[in-house]
Amino acid sequence: MTKKPQVMVLGSGRAVPEKVLTNADLEKMVDTTDQWILSRTGIRERRIVEPGVGLSELATAAAQRALADAGVAAEEIDLIIVGTVTGDMKFPATACLVQDRLGARRATAFDLSAACSGFLYSLQVAQGLMTTAGYRRALVIGGDVLTSMVNWEDRDTCVLFGDGAGAVVLGPSDGERGLLHCYLRSDGAYSGLLYNPGCGSLNPPTPENVRERLNSIVMNGREVFRHAVTSMTEALTRVLEEAGIAAGDIDLLIPHQANLRIIEAVSKRFDMPQERVYVNVERYGNTSAASIPIAFDEARRSGVLQPGNLVAMVTFGGGFTWAAGLMRC
Ligand code: ACO
Repeated sequence: MTKKPQVMVLGSGRAVPEKVLTNADLEKMVDTTDQWILSRTGIRERRIVEPGVGLSELATAAAQRALADAGVAAEEIDLIIVGTVTGDMKFPATACLVQDRLGARRATAFDLSAACSGFLYSLQVAQGLMTTAGYRRALVIGGDVLTSMVNWEDRDTCVLFGDGAGAVVLGPSDGERGLLHCYLRSDGAYSGLLYNPGCGSLNPPTPENVRERLNSIVMNGREVFRHAVTSMTEALTRVLEEAGIAAGDIDLLIPHQANLRIIEAVSKRFDMPQERVYVNVERYGNTSAASIPIAFDEARRSGVLQPGNLVAMVTFGGGFTWAAGLMRC
């Protein structure tokens, strides 16, 4: 039996850099082709930041649009969570930098690290704090500048990623609309299949470690692909079962935008027709924690997602972490 939602989305926003990096551009940088990238991933182009732009700039722009959409002032926000693995700095948290840029002086602000699952994890944590600790208005942001850890000489990974941020403003539910259920999982046994070895306390960014490219993404693409399909299927199955909702009742599925073939494999397992699956991976690549909130905002603003619609979101990322969420919009 579906529980009554306790928090709902009051507004959403997104921000991506203006600079476009196309597959043709990548052909000039590494031994690849537009045809290979498109057929293996579904990606045509991605947005990348200019030097000197960190995540806080994109996250703040997305947050400002979400606040304007919600009709909520920054001073009313009492909680800010940024799901990310590419904050401006190790510390302070990017959420604190966003708080300052917005002038959200009353807020408690922190970052949450769950790689591509960062947005859904943050959504669930925000709901928990709002229902148990008295927070009334929350900003939940998913954002990453993954190009800051891309090795532009590694064709296995550099073609996959892009930069961006998406945000939602949460408030108390009206009783019908809002977050119905979330399912979060992780398994650190697979941490060695997708990780960034450098920049942390184990391998600090010494000249030697940087020379060895330890600050870049390491990925076993085939294994990540396999686990992504299995785990996203499991998360969606569990969230539907636990909420007592049938897959056929989903109006729009918003999967993490990593790879079109992963999206198609998962959608097929739930008999989801193409028109009920949101896809924008061709324009942005994999923006990690930003991919679901960017897609959510696009779907809302373009009218693909209508008030009252049931949206399912599902993701998978480094950790491994994976998650699904159900929301009545
Ligand atoms: N251009 C041309 N050829 C390439 C490129 C490239 N950019 N990258 C790899 N190749 C080559 C490989 O070297 C290999 O050549 P070989 O057969 O001579 O050894 C060949 O293409 C096939 O490589 P595979 O790894 O088998 O290709 P696959 O079909 O598995 O596609 C891909 C690779 C796209 C990385 C896929 O495995 C994938 O998408 N995995 C998921 C990765 C992912 O999404 N990671 C993001 C983080 S987690 C998440 O968000 C879900």
